[in-house]
Amino acid sequence: MAKEILLGKKDLKYKIFISKNAISKKNLGPVLKDHNKVLIISDNGVPSGIRNKVQSIAKNFSKVFLVILKKGEKSKSIQNFQKILNFLADNNFDRTDIIIAVGGGVVGDISGYVASSYLRGIQFVQIPTTLLAQVDSSVGGKTAINISAGKNLVGAFYNPKRVLIDISVLNSLPEREYKAGLAEVIKYALIKNKYLFSLLKNNPQKIILMNKNIIEDVIFESIKTKAEIVSKDEKENGIRALLNFGHTFGHAIEAHGKYKKILHGEAVAKGMFIASKISYLEGHISQKYFNIIKDLLNTYKFDLSVSQYQYKDLKPFILRDKKVRSGRLNLVLLGGPSKAIITSSFDSNNLKKSLAN
Ligand SMILES: NC(=O)c1ccc[n+]([C@@H]2O[C@H](COP(=O)([O-])OP(=O)(O)OC[C@H]3O[C@@H](n4cnc5c(N)ncnc54)[C@H](O)[C@@H]3O)[C@@H](O)[C@H]2O)c1
Repeated sequence: MAKEILLGKKDLKYKIFISKNAISKKNLGPVLKDHNKVLIISDNGVPSGIRNKVQSIAKNFSKVFLVILKKGEKSKSIQNFQKILNFLADNNFDRTDIIIAVGGGVVGDISGYVASSYLRGIQFVQIPTTLLAQVDSSVGGKTAINISAGKNLVGAFYNPKRVLIDISVLNSLPEREYKAGLAEVIKYALIKNKYLFSLLKNNPQKIILMNKNIIEDVIFESIKTKAEIVSKDEKENGIRALLNFGHTFGHAIEAHGKYKKILHGEAVAKGMFIASKISYLEGHISQKYFNIIKDLLNTYKFDLSVSQYQYKDLKPFILRDKKVRSGRLNLVLLGGPSKAIITSSFDSNNLKKSLAN
């Protein structure tokens, strides 16, 4: 059954549609009907059938332009940012025109940042086509590009006009990318959503095999959790940090591998394992619950090996975490089933111990 979530404040509220055929004239029409021009931004890894569908619907309402980036993280660059801004200017886009992002988090992030910047802000629609983008990056209004000093260092909080989450686009997604998205789903279950936890625990085969009915529920529950948190703290001044569960260590593992060895979701799975172990060592959760979490991550076949990382090698990256405030590292840990806590009070020996498998 099709589902909807409303997010954002006052006149910046936006609808998120989740269904097996969310890319439709019915869902796109209302946001496109008042715009003369639309720019579709995508990348060459997104199957052309998905893009063509969006394009043929958009043609009913507006003149359609297309920018196709090269697939991959490198495309979230300042060069592409400038290239797209120039493309918009050269084609006389004005504030009444609109951008549609059709792709994974890379396309969504750069498109959103372009939309936030061009003419001080034009409207944009997110059509996320990876599981990670559907449950995470397309929701919550964070946009970004990378610069040589680091990932996502430049960006804006900027809400889309609408988000269309079409489950059918996941059919073509490589298994490894799909699983990377599932890591973020598990995160929502661990930090807040007990019902999602039971869905994951009781239906692993169906979820691994992407049973469409269950996946629709899984995506809905994930976004609902993110929306509940983001709506209380849009600009990440407090509670939104809970969404970073597993990410302090995950980011450190990714950065240590120079972002080449491991996908973000795979690193987050290891990070969640480490953070859960610290939660247990700190006495916040029982050994029994820690083992349940470990079993869940194993059921979804995440590689939880961490002993290859020396604490001293990860430490510099851990200390660059955005949750370091006034020199103190804040950790997102678990305080119980489906409950996350933020704390700067922990024994640093437990950090080291958590890296011994
Ligand atoms: N803004 C946020 O809140 C937020 C949150 C999490 C992650 N991110 C960002 O998201 C990015 C990662 O996103 P991602 O994991 O979606 O990676 P991605 O955008 O690179 O997509 C992964 C690959 O899948 C391909 N692809 C996309 N849709 C497909 C489909 N339906 N079928 C087959 N292939 C498809 C892409 O072409 C790409 O090669 C990172 O840059 C990260 O920083 C942003």
